[in-house]
Amino acid sequence: MSSSRHRVAVIGGDGIGPEVCAEALKIVAAAGVDLDTTDFDLGAARYLRDGAVLPDATLEELRGFEAILLGAVGPPVGDTAVPPGTLERGLLLRLRFELDLYVNLRPFTGVPGSIGEGADFVVVRENTEGTYAGEGGFLRKGTAHEVATQGSVNTRMGVERCVRYAFELAERRRRRLTLVHKTNVLTFAGDLWQRTVKEVAAEHPEVEWDYNHVDAACIYLVEQPARYDVIVTDNLFGDILTDLAGAVAGGIGFAASANLNPARTGPSLFEPVHGAAHDIAGKGVANPLAAIHSAALMLDHLGETDAAARILKALAAQADAMSAGSPSSSTQLSTTAVGDAIAERL
Ligand code: IPM
Ligand code: MN
Repeated sequence: MSSSRHRVAVIGGDGIGPEVCAEALKIVAAAGVDLDTTDFDLGAARYLRDGAVLPDATLEELRGFEAILLGAVGPPVGDTAVPPGTLERGLLLRLRFELDLYVNLRPFTGVPGSIGEGADFVVVRENTEGTYAGEGGFLRKGTAHEVATQGSVNTRMGVERCVRYAFELAERRRRRLTLVHKTNVLTFAGDLWQRTVKEVAAEHPEVEWDYNHVDAACIYLVEQPARYDVIVTDNLFGDILTDLAGAVAGGIGFAASANLNPARTGPSLFEPVHGAAHDIAGKGVANPLAAIHSAALMLDHLGETDAAARILKALAAQADAMSAGSPSSSTQLSTTAVGDAIAERL
């Protein structure tokens, strides 16, 4: 049992977000950690109600918490009432940038029956730069001579802090690190990443490292996922690779993430990789494992390492009992029944 109550902001969000968040919080309580939670109403529904995406005052309030647990935000697929980018740039990326959540940590363990069975690796995705930084713009928009540019921002500081985190993580794991990039084409950004990895590697002689082009990494992830331990990569490659990794490891409904501010200058944010999945919302069939796993990553970050380890162990046993399924659904048990089963295993 923990001695202090951690102050956690909860953004349930849209679709299945609140359902999976509820299970995650149920498991945290069952593991004996008493959280002091505050709910924040943000996401597509909020935007459609009053036009707010992330008010400045809300952002300032969020800075005061120890961690943020987020379910999922977004409108139903095909819905045009929320313009593309509104929530992505205005809420999710704004939180990542403003709170300096520079590591997006995404662990994968192959679920039995998936093609990733036996694999156990972590993707360290740079989370504040690259093509996500928003550099670029239009010239002569809407004319026949229109130009759109979208640059990739790679700073020495941004790349190095992410690479350092990845090497330190590899030290605590199987001591293998793979840089994934496209150095043969992205010769400027790729060169900076490669040189940085080489330099930081010199400080970690016990970590063996190699390099894969991102296209080849897609093949290896499907054909030999067990070759990976820690993958470090840029923001966009990491986004794409982790959806692929989720599918390989048993379905995106199992994929957790931690958006970390390792310097601890503010709260870190924990969220499942999957989206709001409005098609299955309210039916009680969403797979809560990704959200529960994300909550375990949160507890670990908060220093509740024993509770986190026990949840991870219960999760692994539960995943063993569930077959690999498609996005957030296809679990044989209901959302709450999965939560109950994990609580029982604790
Ligand atoms: C993710 C998501 C986000 C991303 C979107 C929703 C902005 O796909 O967390 O992987 O691209 O990073
Ligand atoms: Mn993504």
